[in-house]
Order: sequence, then structure tokens, then C-alpha cells
Amino acid sequence: MGKTAAEGFYNDLRLKEAKKLILEALKEHSAKITGIKKGDPELKDSYEELLKKMADYRGGALFYNYLGSGIGNGPWVELADGSVKYDFITGIGVHYMGHSHPGVVEAQINGAISNTVMNGHLQQNTDTAKLLELISTEACKYGAIVKNVFLSTSGAMANENAFKIIYQKRAPANRFFAFEKCFAGRTLGMAWVTDKAAYRQGLPKTLDVDYIPFYDEKDHQGSINSAVTAMKKQIARFPGMHAGFVMEVIQGENGSWVGNTEYFEALIKICKENNISVFIDEVQSFGRTTELFAFQYFKLDKHADVVAIGKNSQVCATLFTDDHKPKPGLMSQTFTGSAAQISASHFIIKSIVTGGYLGENGKIQRLHSRFKSNLEKISLKHPEKLKGPYGIGGMVAMTVFNGDEPKSKNFTMKLFENGVLSFMAGGHPTTRVRFLLPVMVTEEHHIDEVCGIIEKTLQEID
Ligand SMILES: Cc1ncc(COP(=O)(O)O)c(C=O)c1O
Repeated sequence: MGKTAAEGFYNDLRLKEAKKLILEALKEHSAKITGIKKGDPELKDSYEELLKKMADYRGGALFYNYLGSGIGNGPWVELADGSVKYDFITGIGVHYMGHSHPGVVEAQINGAISNTVMNGHLQQNTDTAKLLELISTEACKYGAIVKNVFLSTSGAMANENAFKIIYQKRAPANRFFAFEKCFAGRTLGMAWVTDKAAYRQGLPKTLDVDYIPFYDEKDHQGSINSAVTAMKKQIARFPGMHAGFVMEVIQGENGSWVGNTEYFEALIKICKENNISVFIDEVQSFGRTTELFAFQYFKLDKHADVVAIGKNSQVCATLFTDDHKPKPGLMSQTFTGSAAQISASHFIIKSIVTGGYLGENGKIQRLHSRFKSNLEKISLKHPEKLKGPYGIGGMVAMTVFNGDEPKSKNFTMKLFENGVLSFMAGGHPTTRVRFLLPVMVTEEHHIDEVCGIIEKTLQEID
């Protein structure tokens, strides 16, 4: 018997037994998935029907003919046609823990049996408090002061909240800096930050953003100089009008382009001199470098005013310093995340921090090195077909067919048919194909097999 009814419920032996049985059943069925498999011919028609229905109801076809069956095993996911694929894109960087991970499923059950479907600002259970503490403590462990954590349900919303916090603090400044070719999300606000014309076609203008060229590792000093010059020019053009700088420190949607500490510091110095808030958008890179937060990897701890995370964290969040606390009324949400999500988030973040993934000798670096050396070997054999790889940690990208967009798309489709999920990034003439690894469940031999399939697929295309 616990002091609260809930404590009694969570410790009820029937519940423990039920969970044990669910996890046993999961283990047994998931274990049937042992590698790539073609679809079952008997399911072909019904699967195609389902895909067609899906396309009709959602107003357009899916990128891949992918409808999950609801189960997987580590890096393998089963689709509803009975086929099994290597999931090396993980829903664009979400399934860090692969598919049907028992720890994640158990965490989700713990959340799902609570009284709330969705937590929200008038309705937060104790799990939320635990999660906020974990995120805040980990974020501040090397001296950052972004101790306040505000949850939300998408990366775009986490970014919107970051922009609101910064605009309010810096009012009446109403411009923002962002990097060329950055991605910030698809809300009406973020569509004007994301540096891609097609993503805001026909939308009314909402924000004024000045773009700074991103770091170029082939021209370290030159790219610092040109970024600094561009920034100073805009500040001179609009004195006192820049509220913040959204820094996507690793450009995921653009194809895993990696920044540099000295480069960031040169720009941050100008921010600090001009009362411009530093906002690190690591919705995609969270948990994918050798540190939990990418700003920690780049050692920008002391400079971060606001940070956004998402994807791997399952729940999205905006972190901010005391100095950037919004006034009452600026932010509130009916939904901050489902109870199952919040519980899974805690499990995943805790596992990343304690499971041997981080650090120079951690699993993330180990997997990256293996993937990189395999792709380099393929590139040496087929230099006209594959260049790279690029990226960092659990974000790996390559150029196929010299960045030609239709050919890159064709490659991803063929790779999918051959059993590997990847995705396009960037755009002509620097289209890339990228992978966001299910770090928790990937082993070197999986990477070797995937690289074998990449090479085979390249050979199939002229
Ligand atoms: C850097 C970055 N910011 C924001 C977002 C938007 O996140 P969401 O798609 O969850 O709204 C993304 C999504 O890819 C992203 O990569």
C-alpha cells in the first residue's frame, strides 16, 4: 500500500505481472524479425490498397511506400506488407532506440496507464517534473545557465517559443539572424526562418530574417571572415533591430553540415556586443554528437541564452536562462506531450547519458567511424557515384551522382527497395543522402551490411 492511490496502483502485483507478460510477448514476436525481408506476395494487394487510401485521405502520396506494421527489432522495422527494412533514417531522427525496444515500450506503458493521455499546462503529472529536472541538469552540467525547460509537442513549436521569448526580451528589436540554408520548422513563423523558398511559397511574410553564410570547413578563416562581415553589415543597416540569432549548429535538413567552435564564437562575440540573444536550434542534433547537447560539443555553454531540442527527446523543449524568462501570458499550451511520450523521453535521455553512448570513446563515435570508413572505401571504388561522407556522430551523409537531385531521389528509392531507409537532404546542386542512425540498437555489423547494400544499389544505377 502506498501513501497515494497511484503508488498503490503502480506497485500492484497484477500490473507488474501484466507488464512482464507484455514484454515477454513483445520479445518473442520481435525476435522473429532477424533481418531484411521482401514483402509477402499475399499481402501485396491489401498493402497497395492501404497506401492508396492513405494517399487519398492525406492529400498526397507518402515519400516511401512505408506503413509500419507496429513492430520491429532493433534497427529493423517491419512494414504492413510483411517486408523488413533497416531503418537508418528513424522517422527523420526520432527512433534513436530503434524499434520495439523493451525499455522504451515499458516506459510507454508506465505513461499510458496513468490517468492523463496528454499532459498540458494545467495538467502535469510527476513524470513531467522528473523529466524537466533531467533535461535541465544535463543542459547545465558544464556551466550553461539555460535551466528553465518548457515542453512542447513539435520542434517547430519549441522554436516558435524560443523566438517569442527572445522577441519579448529584446522588444522593439524585430529582426533575427539565421544561417543560410538552415531549417527551423514549418509553422507560419518558422517558414520565414527556414532558408528554402519552396517551403514558404504563397505564405504571407511573418518575420524579417538576415542570413549569414554557414561555416565552410574547406575555407576555415575565409568563412569566418565572410560571416562576420555579413553580420556587421546587417547590424549597420538595421542598428538595434536584431533580437536574436538562431544557430542551427549542425545543419541536418541541409545534409549534415557541421559548424565550428571558432566560427560560432566569432559570431557570438558580435551578438553579445549588440544585445542579440543566442539561440541554439538542436532539434535534430540533440543526442547525436559525442555530447548530449550539440552546444556542449561545440563548447558554447557559456553563450547559450535559449536552446531548442526535439526528435530523439520524443518531447520537444525550449530551454532558457533566467534572464530570458517570458512574462506571464506569453506561453502556455493545452498539450505539452503525452504521458507515454514523457515517460519514454526520460528513459531515452537517461539511457543516452548513462549508457556509454557519449564521449570520444562512446558508441556514437564508434558507429560514426565505422560508417565513415566504409563509405570512404566505397567512394574510392566508385568516385563518380559516391562522394563524402559528411556529418558527425549519429548524423551521416553522402553525395551520390554529384548531388543531382532526381538521381539522388532515384537512389533513395532503390535503396528502400533493397531494404534500407535513408532520406534526401539539401537541394541542387548539393543534394545529399543522409542517415540518422538508431544509435541505441545499431552495431558495427549492421553498418557493414547497410554499406554493402549501398554499394550494390549504386552499382545497379548508371
Ligand atoms: C533543426 C531543426 N529545427 C526544427 C525542426 C522542426 O521540427 P518538427 O518537424 O518537429 O516541427 C527540425 C525538423 O527537422 C529541425 O531539423
